[in-house]
Amino acid sequence: MNTQLEPTVMVIFGAGGDLTWRKLVPALYNLYLDRRLPEQFAIVGVARQELDDDSFRRRLREGVDLFSRRGRAEDASWNEFAARLSYFAGDFTAPETGGLLGRRLDEFDHQWDIRAARVFYLAIPPGIVEAAARQLESLGICKDCTRDRLVVEKPFGRDLASAQNLDGLLTSLFAESQIYRIDHYLGKETVQNILAFRFANSLFEPVWNRRYIDHVQITVAETVGVEERGGYYDKAGALRDMVQNHLLQILCLIAMEPPVSFAADEVRNKKVDVLRAIRPILPEEIHRVAVRGQYGKGTIAGKGVPAYREEHDVAPDSATETFAALKLSIDNWRWQGVPFYLRTGKRLHAKVSEVTILFRPAPHQLFPPAAVESWQPNRLVLRIQPEEGIVTRIQVKQPGTRLLLGPVDMQFRYRDAFRVTPPEAYETLLLDVVRGDATLFMRADQVESAWGVISPILDAWEAVPPADFPDYPAGSWGPESADLLIAKEGHSWLTPTIADDEGKVET
Ligand code: BG6
Repeated sequence: MNTQLEPTVMVIFGAGGDLTWRKLVPALYNLYLDRRLPEQFAIVGVARQELDDDSFRRRLREGVDLFSRRGRAEDASWNEFAARLSYFAGDFTAPETGGLLGRRLDEFDHQWDIRAARVFYLAIPPGIVEAAARQLESLGICKDCTRDRLVVEKPFGRDLASAQNLDGLLTSLFAESQIYRIDHYLGKETVQNILAFRFANSLFEPVWNRRYIDHVQITVAETVGVEERGGYYDKAGALRDMVQNHLLQILCLIAMEPPVSFAADEVRNKKVDVLRAIRPILPEEIHRVAVRGQYGKGTIAGKGVPAYREEHDVAPDSATETFAALKLSIDNWRWQGVPFYLRTGKRLHAKVSEVTILFRPAPHQLFPPAAVESWQPNRLVLRIQPEEGIVTRIQVKQPGTRLLLGPVDMQFRYRDAFRVTPPEAYETLLLDVVRGDATLFMRADQVESAWGVISPILDAWEAVPPADFPDYPAGSWGPESADLLIAKEGHSWLTPTIADDEGKVET
């Protein structure tokens, strides 16, 4: 175990939910196996359901067996880990139950003979975050500004005004340095690698600007539908669920200026600068820069799947978008005139997230026209998932006696280069919370600026319900309107690179 880290208790509110089961506990278990957690570490799950410790542990073990990157847990190590897990049943926001939890935390301090650091993870519906935060403050169990932390899951508010209210409340109760607003995309290895790629190499930065880059595409495509989350998703939609956070965070990493150091605030300042430079979208322009879609029934991997409106907990006439595509412009010296196209959707053709940087054509074409028939501008693809890696497309002379140019790809794949399974995003982020490193978390101004970017679209879409939903079949790449959005500028979406087992890339 990590003896450098101080004794810590992690309290997970919403311990009966999907996130705890699928992501948080498998991540904590892997950190435990890698001996990254503090020597004295305990996890207390809080939820309303009556359960004893053993049943709680059994359920969590099922989650680990199903979702851990290492596969099924081994009995011996699971039992050691499980001894650190306990369950606390009750409505935490009720005064008497809150007091009991406080006493449970004191017992750890007593047992370890030190006031342990406390992490309160709010894996609860957005509607009760406020009440839980107020209760934490009034019980005085999260008051050590340097050692007690609060992790808040997305969605952080549902628009700019509610995010500002929530930030106002949280910062009136706790120090900003105690608040960890989580966006799990920032914990993904490949997303973190964008910074390393850009700023640890001298090769790319000189061409990373409007002079050499024609446009940028960011695609986050999923094959899943809304699963068991219809109740939440139908009130959120793709813009709130994915664009406001994950896609805009990726855009920030691609577009930000080089930070002076890797210090949390330095990196976060540079990201906020990007959000502030995004050209505000005027109401009369929305139809030209933003499109939405909703899936109808269709086929994914040969299996028929229902339409969104037939999903569990979704209104049969729902106007919620399950697909969104935007064109954003960044008004600064580096990016003036370079469109950033973003798209995301559920029930698309493949699960794939990637960023493609399309470079401008070579300034002078010296080869005879017959030689360049299959010529393509350079492109760089940052593959976030799956098949994590980087692909650069260059032009080469095709072997033979005729002068014929054509594209080839140079590839780096994580699985070839490193031969290890990278940690899951939640492993990285949970460890950062325990260590007190906020670099990969969002600051209030970032969250609010991101809401500011999409607010005009949210308002316009809410005011005018879509006329043609559902407008894309499950299993396609989204609605036709998304193709038209980008075609207007003479561009087209690149089919994401899906590599086969030999690493050959289909484009
Ligand atoms: C979550 C969204 O934040 O990210 C989900 O709420 C989405 O709707 C998920 O499915 C995608 O995450 P990943 O890591 O599978 O790309």
